Amino acid sequence: MLSKLKFLTAGESHGKGLSGILEGFPAGVSLSEAMIATDLARRQLGHGRGGRMTIETDHAEILSGLRHGKTLGSPIALWIQNKDWENWKEDRMSHEQPKTAVDPVTLPRPGHADLAGVQKFGFSDIRNVLERSSARETAMRVGLGAICRVLLRELGIEIASHVKQIGPELSTATPASDLRSINRAADESPVRCLDKQAEAKMVEHINALRKAGDSIGGVFEVVASGVPAGLGSYTHWDRKLSTRISAAMMSINAMKSVSIGDGLDMADTPGSKVHDEIIKEHGKVRRATNHAGGVEGGMSNGELIQVQVGMKPIPTLAKPLRSVDIASGEAGSAHKERTDACAVPAAAVIGEAMLALVLADAVLEKFGGDSLEQVKAHIKATGA
Ligand SMILES: Cc1cc2nc3c(=O)[nH]c(=O)nc-3n(C[C@H](O)[C@H](O)[C@H](O)COP(=O)(O)O)c2cc1C
Repeated sequence: MLSKLKFLTAGESHGKGLSGILEGFPAGVSLSEAMIATDLARRQLGHGRGGRMTIETDHAEILSGLRHGKTLGSPIALWIQNKDWENWKEDRMSHEQPKTAVDPVTLPRPGHADLAGVQKFGFSDIRNVLERSSARETAMRVGLGAICRVLLRELGIEIASHVKQIGPELSTATPASDLRSINRAADESPVRCLDKQAEAKMVEHINALRKAGDSIGGVFEVVASGVPAGLGSYTHWDRKLSTRISAAMMSINAMKSVSIGDGLDMADTPGSKVHDEIIKEHGKVRRATNHAGGVEGGMSNGELIQVQVGMKPIPTLAKPLRSVDIASGEAGSAHKERTDACAVPAAAVIGEAMLALVLADAVLEKFGGDSLEQVKAHIKATGA
């Protein structure tokens, strides 16, 4: 779905680490490992995470594409080491045949990639699937998205996120118009929620479900400000910004719905209350409201981009559901391993990264330029 930028990730959850390459990124952007570290740390937060996050302190090493603090326009490669690899390298995740036999994982977890994954590849050990289907991979996406955020910031585009719902608990907060202050407040909340009352109930809800060996999902919102009108295109289905944003969000593990602007609520609201009237304010044409969430006809319309994403509950349960052993064919309980009870707050940070990748790509597509200076000059020339 990306047209100018390309990115690839590789790596298993308990493997040596995660690799990522971002290609097509312009030259002349100031970048450092510290700029990436902030977002990686934000992804590790959130009430409801499991033990893994206390083992890992994610750090992305920049392996290429950078010289004297500026990007070169060549591929940027990142490396995030898995500290936990030390505990797995001799046996369960050994690259060679291990000295002692390792028990295969044979009880697929409902809701995970386990069963369809072993059927697809013909594996007899579910670990061959779960190591890559795990959301550990999203740490690298956050690393690559952080690089795109640096570019977008140079162009006056900000991205933030907050949690709107965990289980039945809803946030009623109206986010501030300054996106940096949204993130500051959300980063301080254990559930990235801007509504303090809802926050306390969300934490309680997660605690209760965790205690019962269960898990819970929710909804987060990602917003982007300063996005110029005309990113994406109405001319073809795969050029639409709405297509590209939705695909990016749905690619995040456990995401089951995406809506832009008022989304589903538009279905039972009359057109007169849904469509954003066009007005002139201080000599500028703009919208009186933003029900469309900043995207019309598959293009950005210059208003705040608002995307809501629904996450299902985490599939690995401390009190596992029924399953069938793929080796014996016998009924049993699904495989258990260290797990999060709720990861909606972390997913919101991953949503920011995916939006950053999509918007950086769409900006480069529309305005072009091999260096930051050229991109800026092209934007200025169009008056955007
Ligand atoms: C940040 C994050 C953390 C996650 N942590 C877990 C976890 O600890 N245990 C688990 O079973 N699933 C976890 N998931 C969800 C699974 O990765 C996901 O449900 C699985 O890959 C199946 O894909 P699907 O839900 O998109 O069908 C997590 C997802 C995200 C976004």
